[in-house]
Amino acid sequence: MSEMPAVESKFDPKDMQFRRLGPAGLKVSVLSLGGWLTYGGTQKGSIVKDCMQAAWLNGINFFDTAEVYAAGQCELEMGQALKELAWPRDEYVLSTKVFFGTSRKEPNTRGLSKKHIIEGLKSSLARLETSYVDIVFAHRHDPDVPMKEIVEAFTQTIHMNLAYYWGTSEWSAEQIQEATDIAEKYNLIAPIAEQPQYNAFHRERFEKEYKPLYEKYQYGTTIWSPLASGFLTGKYNSGEIPEGSRYANNSDMMKSKIEELKSEEGRSKIKKVQELTKIAERLGGTMTQLALAWCAANKNVSTVILGATNPQQVHDNCGAMKLLPKLTDDVLKEIEGILGNKP
Ligand SMILES: NC(=O)c1ccc[n+]([C@@H]2O[C@H](COP(=O)([O-])OP(=O)(O)OC[C@H]3O[C@@H](n4cnc5c(N)ncnc54)[C@H](OP(=O)(O)O)[C@@H]3O)[C@@H](O)[C@H]2O)c1
Repeated sequence: MSEMPAVESKFDPKDMQFRRLGPAGLKVSVLSLGGWLTYGGTQKGSIVKDCMQAAWLNGINFFDTAEVYAAGQCELEMGQALKELAWPRDEYVLSTKVFFGTSRKEPNTRGLSKKHIIEGLKSSLARLETSYVDIVFAHRHDPDVPMKEIVEAFTQTIHMNLAYYWGTSEWSAEQIQEATDIAEKYNLIAPIAEQPQYNAFHRERFEKEYKPLYEKYQYGTTIWSPLASGFLTGKYNSGEIPEGSRYANNSDMMKSKIEELKSEEGRSKIKKVQELTKIAERLGGTMTQLALAWCAANKNVSTVILGATNPQQVHDNCGAMKLLPKLTDDVLKEIEGILGNKP
């Protein structure tokens, strides 16, 4: 009998942990990597590949993008990097998101009509140079489209083998419940996960509003901006904006965050970051790692999507996995005492 060629794999999970993405069997690394504002935006070419490779070498198996990121350029860059990295396709999980389009003005090139969900996803796949993503997210809810059409269209993408699962992003709990009810009633496929913002200073919806969804459906979460766009690294603690940072490079989009630095609320948040930094150092880590590990310590978080402008940030941030087991109930209580914002 001739021997089957083995798949050549260099994937090594190192300190990484893996969690089921909601009720699905799919397993995602607790830390993952996304490309908003970075890949195809400020970062192009080999650095994108280097960041993804740094993630992979730290056991990350999940990568996130969206049609709207850098108007499609993010998918092009990440697709090119994936092609060059040539990892076995069954060893990584890829997601994209449809809704915002790619800056075109024709009304059907955005939104959640059946037309845009299917055609938008096909265009994303073409940019990514792949025939499917593992998960396609509805990047926002669309009040102009009947919910049944939305659920039907995502079900159809799965039947067409363009995606294996679908999810929501920044939908209300009520909208997710409605989609799930419709899927059940019409024998369609329900969404499995939400992509919400979640970090130490942005907690309400994730911890309170979605609670029934975790209990009823084990709804999964792929959380974004775990560092509040970098604020939780402590790099803005002086109130000044470091050259080359996200606040500097995206000053229009970050306007309210920049203004907040000088406000009373901003100064109070900075004080909390300074207090948290002491805990991080006592535990042998950095503020950034503590902020990430704090997110991952919540069992309703399936994966924490990192953003990173260079491979060193990816590597440093993966050090959060070493801090995670040190976040005991007592440490979490101490952190809670500093934050004082439990919803
Ligand atoms: N569904 C949605 O609506 C939505 C929205 C936003 C994001 N997302 C997803 O979530 C991902 C992560 O979001 P995010 O990028 O906002 O995450 P984030 O963790 O809050 O911010 C990441 C940024 O913080 C800075 N940073 C990270 N590590 C650092 C370190 N060790 N030292 C100093 N600075 C560091 C970097 O910016 P600089 O170096 O440039 O300062 C980096 O780009 C996105 O890529 C995207 O996939 C989804």
